Amino acid sequence: MNELIEKLNKLLATTFAFSLKAQFFHWNVTGQDFSQYHGFFGNLYTEVYEAIDQTAEQTRAVNATAYGSFTQYMSLSEIQCQTTVPALQEMVSILYRDNETIISVLKEVHEAAERYNERGLVNFLEGRLDTHKKHSWMLRSSMAPVSVTAPVREEAPAEDEIRTYTLDVKNL
Ligand SMILES: [Fe+2]
Repeated sequence: MNELIEKLNKLLATTFAFSLKAQFFHWNVTGQDFSQYHGFFGNLYTEVYEAIDQTAEQTRAVNATAYGSFTQYMSLSEIQCQTTVPALQEMVSILYRDNETIISVLKEVHEAAERYNERGLVNFLEGRLDTHKKHSWMLRSSMAPVSVTAPVREEAPAEDEIRTYTLDVKNL
């Protein structure tokens, strides 16, 4: 059981670090897409912030102490603190990578919870995994290069229009 409790506190610390970093980016993002990313990072940290309390209460439910200090969080978190403000695309890449880290910690705790047959905890962790997979999708989509689509012509060109075009090319 100690192993499960240690992993739960690691998840708590990692979740806290992720939420704080997303909030840090929410505050400091700049650029022409400010409004869009200020909102996107805002939604992200708010959603994950809710999970901090839920994770702590799941820890209490297995009769363990839920940690609550920066000192403990810094030593347990799998996500590093962010002290500098990166460019927008770097912010998205960092959060994508950190979100993948949370997913791997969640899988670790899930595996331990299954072994100890903690059904309520297993359900909670599966819900968090689903939510973080959605965060991954959104962050990954924000990292994709912008695709340029050619304007679509509604009707096919008339035959004489094609002939004229061909003649023009030959005369170049
Ligand atoms: Fe805000």
